[in-house]
Amino acid sequence: MLDQTEGYITADGRQIGGTLMEMKNITLKFGGLVAIQDISFDIREGEIRAIIGPNGAGKSSMLNIISGFYTPTIGEVWYKGAKRPPMKPYEVARMGVARTFQNIALFEGMTVLDNVMTGRLTHMKAGIGAQALWWGKAQREEIENREICEKVIDFLEIQNIRKTPVGRLPYGLKKRVELARALAAEPSILLLDEPMAGMNVEEKEDMSRFILDVNDEFGTTIALIEHDMGVVMDISDRVVVMDYGKKIGDGTPDEVRNNQDVIDAYLGVAHD
Ligand SMILES: Nc1ncnc2c1ncn2[C@@H]1O[C@H](COP(=O)(O)OP(=O)(O)OP(=O)(O)O)[C@@H](O)[C@H]1O
Ligand SMILES: [Mg+2]
Repeated sequence: MLDQTEGYITADGRQIGGTLMEMKNITLKFGGLVAIQDISFDIREGEIRAIIGPNGAGKSSMLNIISGFYTPTIGEVWYKGAKRPPMKPYEVARMGVARTFQNIALFEGMTVLDNVMTGRLTHMKAGIGAQALWWGKAQREEIENREICEKVIDFLEIQNIRKTPVGRLPYGLKKRVELARALAAEPSILLLDEPMAGMNVEEKEDMSRFILDVNDEFGTTIALIEHDMGVVMDISDRVVVMDYGKKIGDGTPDEVRNNQDVIDAYLGVAHD
């Protein structure tokens, strides 16, 4: 059983902390369509938490609520022990929540480095006025931002393409650049919407390794949506299963794998 405050030890011996993010009775409606219906779950500090389920189940909508892109119709989002008021996505980002998108959202004409630098925007304090008044301060900030981005670029092994325009990169590398941009924000929690979609086996293996390394090296909490069950069961600590806007399962990979509702709705049927 999970301890509500003390966390738990994973199968591979990692210490997971207390609750970092908690979704309480979330319902999301688009007009007459109920995309999410009364779902509650939590994400623990240091955890790799997966959200799975068939197409249209409401997974991306859930991630969009966590990142502030959508506001729930009913329900509460708790973060770091406090109820979060309705917020703009950039305000949520400033609180340490970074994300990647199901459809890659990068500036195709800009270089890899410049794209990664946009991940630092939420941290920039010196505005244009400050840049004129305190040239030195803005310059120091710029240097620091650049150092963090270079570190992330090294970490994700994309040094050789740092000056390449993103539009010229193959799909798998674009996905990695998007991860780099999210990491440049030095998030407490990283939200990944299908980080391996469209990748070949080797690219998936690389991405899995990077996700595990990010969690291990920086202690970043990760919530990810993924359709590849091999990957999900391999890298996640706990899994939420959604179907038609409802939560039909929640637990360790083994618990979820053996849950008859989950098998009937998702695992037992062919999907991409
Ligand atoms: N902005 C929106 N306006 C209206 N309906 C929406 C909007 N976003 C999502 N939906 C609907 O909400 C439901 C859930 O969609 P969502 O994108 O969250 O599913 P998903 O589980 O991420 O699916 P997939 O695996 O295909 O990415 C779908 O019926 C979708 O059409
Ligand atoms: Mg989706």
